[in-house]
Amino acid sequence: MQKTPHTHRPDAGAIQPMNAVASAILPPPATTPAPPGTARLRHFVQQLAALVETAPPEPELLSRGGALLGALVAHDDWLPAAYAQPHPERYQQYLLHADALGRFSVVSFVWGPGQSTPIHDHTVWGLIGMLRGSEDSQAFARTADGRWAPQGPPHRLEPGDVDAVSPAIGDVHRVSNAWEGRTSISIHVYGANIGAVQRSVYLQDGTAKPFISGYSNATLPNIWDLSRNPATAA
Ligand SMILES: [Fe+2]
Repeated sequence: MQKTPHTHRPDAGAIQPMNAVASAILPPPATTPAPPGTARLRHFVQQLAALVETAPPEPELLSRGGALLGALVAHDDWLPAAYAQPHPERYQQYLLHADALGRFSVVSFVWGPGQSTPIHDHTVWGLIGMLRGSEDSQAFARTADGRWAPQGPPHRLEPGDVDAVSPAIGDVHRVSNAWEGRTSISIHVYGANIGAVQRSVYLQDGTAKPFISGYSNATLPNIWDLSRNPATAA
């Protein structure tokens, strides 16, 4: 990414009177480089937006989007701590970015020790990239009498692994933290603003219960302050 003049942060002693207000509300310039986090996430969001803009067929979208997500979760140095916090009673879903046109959203899914989801669907395409710890996904399929039955063995995701879901390839699963004693975190991308999507959780007898997940956070990470972290992550 080409640098602009705005990418240079002056030393404290060089701040001019015009910057007096900004210097009063901003912390002093960091003496150590900012972590690559914002650049990594921003780069991913930009690459995914460019991909979605071309409206490829879903298999191509999942393949190419999965490669982008794989590159993002290949590094565990970028997720701000505020979006990596487990809750003692329930898993957390933090919104990291929502596309302005609702074409995709990016969330961090944070599992406390031993936590799991109910059986649920997504209704849109989704990509799951394992960032930290590990999780088990058990797919379910409808039986002839309308119940949900496990489909194959559970699938374990380890750091760097990427999985996909969608109504076309299998959309119903139950996911759990594979660790009883530590937090696990996966990064999810969905083909909608997933926190606003009407979808369902299921009992194994087939009973559906509608839900809209919302998000666990009220504020998003600022990935757009290029003055703080201009570099494009590798
Ligand atoms: Fe899921």
